[in-house]
This record gives sequence, structure tokens and C-alpha cells, in this order.
Amino acid sequence: MFSKRTFGMFGAGLVAVLVATTFSFSQSYTKDQDLNTWVRNAEPGMLHNLLNNISPAGTLPGTVIASPSKQSPNYFFHWIRDAALVMDVVVDRYAQAGQGKEKNFYADLLKDFIALTRRHQQTPTPSNGPGEPKFNVDGTPYTGDWGRPQNDGPALRAIALINLAKTLLQENREDRVRETLYDDTFNSPIKLDLEFVSHHWRETCFDLWEETRGHHFYTQLVQRRALVEGAKLAQRLNDHQAANWYAQQAREIEHELMRYWDGNRRILMATIDRDGGADYKYSNLDSAVILGLLHGSLDDGFLPFSDEKVLGTLRALEKTFQEIYPVNNKGHRGITIGRYPEDRYDGVSLAFGFMNAGLHARADAGNPWFLTTMGFAEFYYRLAHELKKYGPKLIHAGNAWFFNDFGGTQDFNALIDALRGRGDDFMAAAQFHMSPDGHISEQINRYTGFMQGAQDLTWSYASFLTATRWR
Ligand code: NOJ
Ligand code: NOJ
Repeated sequence: MFSKRTFGMFGAGLVAVLVATTFSFSQSYTKDQDLNTWVRNAEPGMLHNLLNNISPAGTLPGTVIASPSKQSPNYFFHWIRDAALVMDVVVDRYAQAGQGKEKNFYADLLKDFIALTRRHQQTPTPSNGPGEPKFNVDGTPYTGDWGRPQNDGPALRAIALINLAKTLLQENREDRVRETLYDDTFNSPIKLDLEFVSHHWRETCFDLWEETRGHHFYTQLVQRRALVEGAKLAQRLNDHQAANWYAQQAREIEHELMRYWDGNRRILMATIDRDGGADYKYSNLDSAVILGLLHGSLDDGFLPFSDEKVLGTLRALEKTFQEIYPVNNKGHRGITIGRYPEDRYDGVSLAFGFMNAGLHARADAGNPWFLTTMGFAEFYYRLAHELKKYGPKLIHAGNAWFFNDFGGTQDFNALIDALRGRGDDFMAAAQFHMSPDGHISEQINRYTGFMQGAQDLTWSYASFLTATRWR
């Protein structure tokens, strides 16, 4: 793998090949034939649209633009977070692909991404480290005003690259892993990110929405995952001291994560120890907690999807968004989900956020987003998957209230189907508001239901692809 890449010459052709490919989904859940058909038919186009935003014309190879939109809003940048979540999908495709053209295509994308990552990691930035949130498409750091650092970025990037390393090790390419991804000299992309995460997770930073400074559930949960998986990789590559250090830091984060529980309101709070940025998020209720589970879960017993604290948060978010968005009360199937109830960002004007909050922002400017709506679908698919895997013993006095709404445990298979059906409701809601030809922007207008904000948001496509993969 990692041969020289010529996207222009054969990339476009291969994209066409990929688009023509059909994928079969597990037949175990076939209740919703219409949605099945839509998902199957839409999937190749979603992948195509995602790939279109990797190394587009005028950018350095390996660049993942957040969206092609260059004004209102200008998203023509490489965000570390968005890029990591998108490249994780590419790693997955690389791992699934059979030998040949398709696999080489993904290998080349990954090779470019690694080269760009090295460059980003070695460039001095305003925040002076890997927490710098976004880069220009020529590889230079963005130096304007911004909420920085955002320390989820290096953790997410490490997670994606560790997934690649694991795949390569399975393919007996340890040489490649050592050469391009991990060695013990502090010079390799994964090691650099893990060193940063393990030494700096105690510091406050801006959240994934780039607005609030403090400690964040989302950030700390993905940091924990990066360190747990990083420890395993280090162990496997005989970097034993590092392995112990990463594992130790991960355990300390686990301890910290319990501080987010608000036992009175029975929710996991998004942010604690706030020391800057947006100050109007009174509820501290945020879909970021659910996204944290999607991006940070390891299926190792720590905060499983069925945890009552997680389900309490999920339920509170569903209730809130159902109430506050008029578009959720028009009789369409399912509901759409936003970032947090007090959100003021309308997706168009970057001045709408905390920096000019007093001047421009309207408290009702915030909208539902596609990536959160499809994220909730993915949550339900993964919850169903977890129940199927571990069985009824996961349900107990603490979390039974949640499952009772889905028919309870009397018929366990029916319960699992009901949870999947609930996931499908969210997918159907997202489908209803996206363009019929499968283009997805960032947001859904809370009144009219029309798409709003950055068009062809790369992360929106990633969220479709990960949700439907779990489906
Ligand atoms: C705004 C979102 O809040 C942030 O999470 C994302 O990284 C950027 N848009 C770019 O998509
Ligand atoms: C852009 C960020 O990406 C978004 O998350 C934020 O809400 C707005 N700026 C306003 O600050």
C-alpha cells in the first residue's frame, strides 16, 4: 500500500466504480422495507459526496474540507476533528475492501492524510500544539481569532490512525506501522498525539462546538478511548513504558468522567469547570454527550450505551428537542435533533456565536443538525446491538424505566426490534429534510425544515455512513 497517488487520473473513475457497487445489509431486521431501500440506494452517493471533499482541487493532498462552502459560512478549511471522523470512515472502507483497485484507492487517501498530519504536527501554530482546531487548505495553520485549543482533535485523529494501524497489523504489515504510524521516538503521528493527550487532558480547552472553554464530557471520553487503544498498540509494539503510562492516564480520566453526572437532573452534563467562552448554555444538556458515546465507546464495560446515566441524558435531549423545534411538531415521522437547546448558531453567519452573542445572536437561532439526528439513530442501533450481544442481564432496576417504553423485556427480540425501529425514526426524519438527490448540509431550519448552513458538510455524510453501517 501507500503507492504514489493520482486522484485526478483514476480517482474519479474509481469513485464511479464505487458508486455503482451495491452493498447488502443484514437481513435480520427487515420491518421497514422503505427505509431499507432508501438506505441501500442512497449509500453509494453518500460515500461519493464524502470522497469529493477529500483533496479537492486547490488543496494539499490529504486535506478534508469541512464543506465546499467558501462564504456564509466559510468552511473551506481542514478541521482536525471533522477530518479524523471522516478518515475513520475511509479506514473502515480500506479494511473492508478486497485487494485491488479499490483498496489501493483508499490506501492512497490514507497515505496523503498521514503525510498531511505529519506536516500539521510539525508546523508551529497559535495554540502551540496539536490542539490547534483548523488549518488552511494549503497546510498552513489558520491564525485568525478562534476558540482554541480544541483537544478532542488529536484524540480523534489518534483513534482513526490506530484503527488503521490495527488493520495493517492484521495484514502483517508491522513494518508499515512502524515506518508511518507509530514508533517510540516521539516522532510518529500516533505517538505525538498520544503524548499530547496523556500530558494535557487535565487542561481546559474549547469544546467540539468551538464555543465553550472548560472540561468537556465529549473531549474526555474520546481522550480516554485514544489512550486505552494507544496503550494496547504501544504494548503490541513493545513500547511498554508508554503503554503503562497511557493506560494509567486513561484510568484517571475514567475517574474524572464521573464528575459529569448531575444526580438531581439525572443527566450527564456537557461541560464542567467552565472558564471561558459561551456562558448561556444554562441547561448543560448537549447532544455532544451522545456523540461522545458514538466516538468514544469501546465496548469494554465502561459507560455502555445501556447505562442509566447515558439513557437519562438521551431521554432529556429527545424531550427538549421535540418541544423546542416547531419542525418536530408537524406530524412527520421521527424527530430532528440539535446541538443543545440554547444554541444560537444558525449555520450561516459565523458572527452568531459567543464572540458577538450580545450583538447579533437570537436565542432561537439554533437549528436541528443532520449529524446529531443521524447520530441519535446510530445510538439506538448500537444500543440494540449491545442488548443483543449481552442479553437481558443489561436491564436492571436502574435503567428498566427506559426499556419499558419499548415494550420491556417480556419479548426480548421485540424489544431489540423496537429500539432499531426508533433508530429508523431518526433516519427517516433526516431523510425527509435532506435533498432528494442525497445532498446534505449542516442544519435543518427549525421552522421550515429546509436545509440550512454549509452545503455538503463532509461530517454529515460520515454520520450517514456510520449510522447505516451499525444499522
Ligand atoms: C461547526 C461545528 O460546531 C464544529 O464541530 C465543526 O468542527 C465545524 N463546524 C466544521 O464542520
Ligand atoms: C463557528 C463554529 O464552527 C460554530 O460551532 C460556532 O457555533 C460558530 N462559529 C459561532 O461561534
